[in-house]
Amino acid sequence: MLAGITLAIACGHTPSATPRPAIEEPSLELPLLPRARRDYARCGEPFVIDAHTRIGGPREVASQLARWLGLPESAVGGGAADIDLVYTGGVVHDPAEGPLPIDEQSYVLEIGPGRKPTVSARGRGGLFYGAQTIAQLAGARRIGMPTPPLGPGDRWTLPCVRIEDEPRHAFRGMHLDVARHFFDRAVVERYVDMLAFYKLNVFHWHLTDDQGFRLDLPSHPELKSADGAYSAADVEAVVEHARARGVTVIPEIEMPGHTRSVLAAHPELSCTGEKQETPRTWGVFDDVLCAGNEGSYTLVEEMLRDVVAAFPSRLIHVGGDEVPPTRWEACPKCRAAMKAANVDAIGLEHVFMQRVFDMLAASKRRPMVWDEALPNGPARNPPVVVAWQSKERGELAVQRGFDTVFAPYQALYFNFRQSGRRELEPGHLGHLSWPLVHGFDVEPAPHVLGGEAALWTEYVTTQEDIDTLVLPRMAVHAETLWTGRRPAHELITRSRLQRPMLDASGVRYFVEPPGGTRPRSVVLDVRKVVLETPLFYPDGVVRYTRDGSIPTPASPRYRDPLSIIDTTTLTTALFLPSGRASKPVRALFVKETPRPAVATASAPRVRYYEGRFAKLAEIASPLAEVETDGVSLEAAARALGGRMKRDHFALVFDAVVKIAETGIHRFEIVGDDAARIEVDGELVAEVDTDPWPREADGEIALAAGLHAVRVTYLQGTEDRKLEIVVAGPSGRAPLEIAGVRGASAP
Ligand code: ACM
Ligand code: ZN
Repeated sequence: MLAGITLAIACGHTPSATPRPAIEEPSLELPLLPRARRDYARCGEPFVIDAHTRIGGPREVASQLARWLGLPESAVGGGAADIDLVYTGGVVHDPAEGPLPIDEQSYVLEIGPGRKPTVSARGRGGLFYGAQTIAQLAGARRIGMPTPPLGPGDRWTLPCVRIEDEPRHAFRGMHLDVARHFFDRAVVERYVDMLAFYKLNVFHWHLTDDQGFRLDLPSHPELKSADGAYSAADVEAVVEHARARGVTVIPEIEMPGHTRSVLAAHPELSCTGEKQETPRTWGVFDDVLCAGNEGSYTLVEEMLRDVVAAFPSRLIHVGGDEVPPTRWEACPKCRAAMKAANVDAIGLEHVFMQRVFDMLAASKRRPMVWDEALPNGPARNPPVVVAWQSKERGELAVQRGFDTVFAPYQALYFNFRQSGRRELEPGHLGHLSWPLVHGFDVEPAPHVLGGEAALWTEYVTTQEDIDTLVLPRMAVHAETLWTGRRPAHELITRSRLQRPMLDASGVRYFVEPPGGTRPRSVVLDVRKVVLETPLFYPDGVVRYTRDGSIPTPASPRYRDPLSIIDTTTLTTALFLPSGRASKPVRALFVKETPRPAVATASAPRVRYYEGRFAKLAEIASPLAEVETDGVSLEAAARALGGRMKRDHFALVFDAVVKIAETGIHRFEIVGDDAARIEVDGELVAEVDTDPWPREADGEIALAAGLHAVRVTYLQGTEDRKLEIVVAGPSGRAPLEIAGVRGASAP
C-alpha cells in the first residue's frame, strides 16, 4: 500500500524540477505468466505499438516478435528500430539438443520511461523469452496461430516496466502420450506452442506404448501403427518447430514393458512366442520384451539408431516403467539370464536397462528413464530419472546422485480430472485440482534438473480434450518452475489478465463450474444453498435454473443464498466475460421424511473374505463370520485374530447405530482401497478402487433411534484405511455402535 501511494505521488505533478530516479515497485497487474523473477513498475506513458513499429535484432527472434505483434516481416531490420532485441553473448547452445543453461535463458527487458523497449540477453533463449514477454505484455501473443495483422488504426500498448528474468529450473517439461491416442502433427505443434507460451522448454513425446507405435523407423517400418504414425518429415518439422520456440523434443521409446505394439509385429521377442494383438484396452500387461533373447537387444539397438538419427536431443527416454516379472519368471531364457547375472526379475530389468544405457552412450546420447528403472547404486552411463511415483522417489534418485526430473503423479498428471467429475471433463478418474499443482514444488539443488507434467491420453481424443485437461494447470506448473510458487491471488489475477490471449487463440481451457452443491442432497423443510464462484475465476458470474434446464446468459444471476423447499433440480453454470461458460452442474434436492428407527440392538458382526478383488462388486463367499466390537479395521483384527491377512481381503460389517436426533445425516467415508456404507438398506456413500479420491459422502434423513448400518471394505495392497463419520443436526461424530457386548451402550 505504502509503495503504491509513494508511486502515485511521484508520478503525479510535482513542482520540483529536480530529476530523480524512477520510483519502482513490484507490478502485479501484468498479463504475464509465469511471472518474471523481478519486475518493477515505472512511471511514464505506455509505449504504443502500431502498424509502423519497427523491430531490430537477430532476424529469427525479431521475425517471431513481428508475427506475435501482427506486424509484417518488413517491420524487421532495415532502418531505425522502435523495439530493440540486443544479443550480447556469443553463446551457442542449441535448444534442440537440450534445455539451455539458465544464464542462456535469462534476459532483461526495459520499457520506458523515455526510451524504447529493449531486450538484452546473452543467449538466444533469453532473447526469445524477452520478446515473448513483450508480446504477452501487449496482450498480442496468440497460441498456434499468427496474430492477425495490425490495421492502420490498431495499436497495442506496453506498460513502463523493468523486468529482470531467468528461470529457477533449467528443465521445465510437459509430456504428451500419442500412443494411446494418436494426434496429428498440427495438434502436436500447437501443443509445443502452448508450452512455449508458458516458457516451458521440454516436450517429452511419448511415442510408443502397448496400444501404438507412432514412429515410422527406416530400419523397422513394420513397427508403425496402421492407425497413425509420424513420418520422418513429421519428426523433422516438429523438432524444428520446437527449436524455434526454445523447446527440446525428448522422444520416448518404451521398453522392456509397455511394448505390446512391438510384440504384435515381433511375437518371437516375447517370452511365450505367441501371436499378439495390439491391445485396445488399457493397463499394465504381463507381456514384455524377453530379456533373455538377444533378438530383443538387436531390435532395441536398431530402433535407437534410427531415433538418434531423427532427434537431435542429447536425452533419449527409454521407458523402464511398470514391468511385471510374471513372464520373465516363467521363461527359460529369462531365468537363464537371471542366473547368469545372479539377479531376480527386478534385477533383470536393471541388467536390461544397463545394456540400453550403454547403447545410447555409444551414440553419444544420455538415457532418460521412469523411476522404476532408478539404479540401486552407481551406474555406468547413468540415466536421468523422471520420478513419477512420488516426490520421495525423486528425492531418493537425487540422494543416489542421479540427475532427476520431478513428475509426481499426485500433482503433475494432468490426465486426472481437475474437478474430479466425469460429466465435466475427459480424463482419468481422480481429482487433481489446480491447488494440488500449486502446492507442489522442488527447490533447486544439485541433481535437480526441474519438473515435468504429464498428459496420458487413454481418455483424451481431441485437441479440445488436451486444452481442457492441461489448462489452467499447465500455467500453474510453469510458474512454479520458472518463478517459484507465488501466492494464489497473484496467479489468479495474472491468469485473468492473460486469458484474452487464450480466448483469441481458441484455447479451450477448463472453466470450473460454481461450487456449493452436491449431486444429491436431502430436503426436510427448507434447505439454504450457498453457491460459490470458483476461486480461479473471480470475474465469473454464477447463473442458475430450478427447472432442470441449462442456464443461459439470461438465466437468473446468483446473488443471495437460495431456499429449496421441495424436490428440485438446481442447475448452475459459470459465465466468463469472454462469453465462455462452464459446463452446467446439476444438483438434485430430494424431499424426504425421516426414516423411522427400525433396528433393535444386537452385537455388530463382521464377515471376512479373501481374494484379489479389483472392485467392491467382486466380493463374494465369506470365509468367516464373527461378532466384533466396532466398525473399524482394528475391531475386525481383534475379532478375527490371526486370520486377517495384510493384503487382498475384504470385510463386511453389520451393525446397529444410535442416531441421537431426527434430521438430515451426512455419512462420510474414507476407504483405501475401497469402501461403502448402507443405512437401512439404502446405499449412502461409496468409494470404489479409483486412484483417488478415497473419500465419499452422502445424505439420508433419519429419525432418532436405532438404524441398521452395513459397511463394506476392500483391501488390495499398501495403504489400509477405513474411517466413518456421521454429521447430523447435533454435529459430527464417529458412528455410535449399539449392542456391543460388555459395553454400556443400549
Ligand atoms: C507411468 O506413469 N507409468 C510413467
Ligand atoms: Zn523371456
